[in-house]
Amino acid sequence: MTQAVNVTITGGAGQIGYALAFRIAHGDVFGPEVPVNLHLLEIPAGVRAAEGVAMELDDSAFPLLNSVHVHDNARSAFDGTNMVAFVGARPRSKGMERADLLEANGGIFGPQGTALGEHAAPDVRALVIGNPANTNAAILAAHAPDIPAGRITAMTRLDHNRAVAMLAKKTGAPAAAITRMSIWGNHSPTQYPDLFHALIDGVPATEKIDDHEWVAQEFVPRVAQRGTEIIQARGASSAASAASATIDHLHDWVHGTPKGDWTSVAMPSDGSYGVPEGLMCSFPMRSINGEWEIVQGLEISDFSQGYIDISVEELKQELKIVEELGFTPGL
Ligand code: NAI
Repeated sequence: MTQAVNVTITGGAGQIGYALAFRIAHGDVFGPEVPVNLHLLEIPAGVRAAEGVAMELDDSAFPLLNSVHVHDNARSAFDGTNMVAFVGARPRSKGMERADLLEANGGIFGPQGTALGEHAAPDVRALVIGNPANTNAAILAAHAPDIPAGRITAMTRLDHNRAVAMLAKKTGAPAAAITRMSIWGNHSPTQYPDLFHALIDGVPATEKIDDHEWVAQEFVPRVAQRGTEIIQARGASSAASAASATIDHLHDWVHGTPKGDWTSVAMPSDGSYGVPEGLMCSFPMRSINGEWEIVQGLEISDFSQGYIDISVEELKQELKIVEELGFTPGL
């Protein structure tokens, strides 16, 4: 029997955690051969609810679920962990300024980064979902300097999937026919969904939709604002689709992106495309042998570059704030 992997979900009793835990326990990340020990980390007020989730996981009798554990401290939750989905974060409350939000989350991701660096397994892979995801991941990485840079990522896969879905709707093609979509920048309204390299059944998307107005006025803003659209309709933020995107990101990390395709991941820049080195920025990304690699050599038009610059500038500003608050050492 293959050795079990340890997977930790922070915020395991929240909406995304609730949808995510069952997919991981079902084997959707590692596949049907690999048993999973699931660890749910919660703040003390969430522990009872996490115990309820653990009871439901038991009751599902998943063949691959080796064990479920509930934790109220990061050190035990990360002890020997191979993979962590950082979902738990401090949400923005009414009247809260961006700096206050960054400070509150720095207070979470700083200590969790230290605990991760000290207790996780050497092969740990971390994905930050909790917002502001890119900067939370930068804080996490700054506190776990021994974890290789590419092993701590932030999620833009939901934005990627939304962009694929929107292009599919526009053209009538199935989502599976769309490849090479890209999300650049921050997981925020400044993100830039880029369809200029996307293919539909192997044909450039731009040949199928010769409608620049739709791209600029509908596609780009609507992908970026899709989260708000969901909240208005559902009365709650995206949860199942966020969990599904988390599974997609982790699955592709472990198994590789399909041949000829790529996805979108926020990871520390290596200086590609003029993005300052170290900035936790979303790029088109391939997963090869378990590592993410930035797709190189794409031609970026002035139209695209304008958007990318705005989002990169926002990331720099967020990082400047958390540097001033003492959470990161700077680039
Ligand atoms: P939620 O409020 O339902 O759940 C969050 C859970 O995290 C709660 O159970 C809370 O008790 C727990 N938590 C808070 N601080 C914690 C800490 N320090 N340690 C461990 N657990 C902690 O929220 P939901 O809907 O599950 O969303 C979680 C986060 O994901 C939010 O920040 C949200 O903005 C973000 N998000 C990100 C997306 C992305 O594409 N990157 C998409 C959708 C949501």
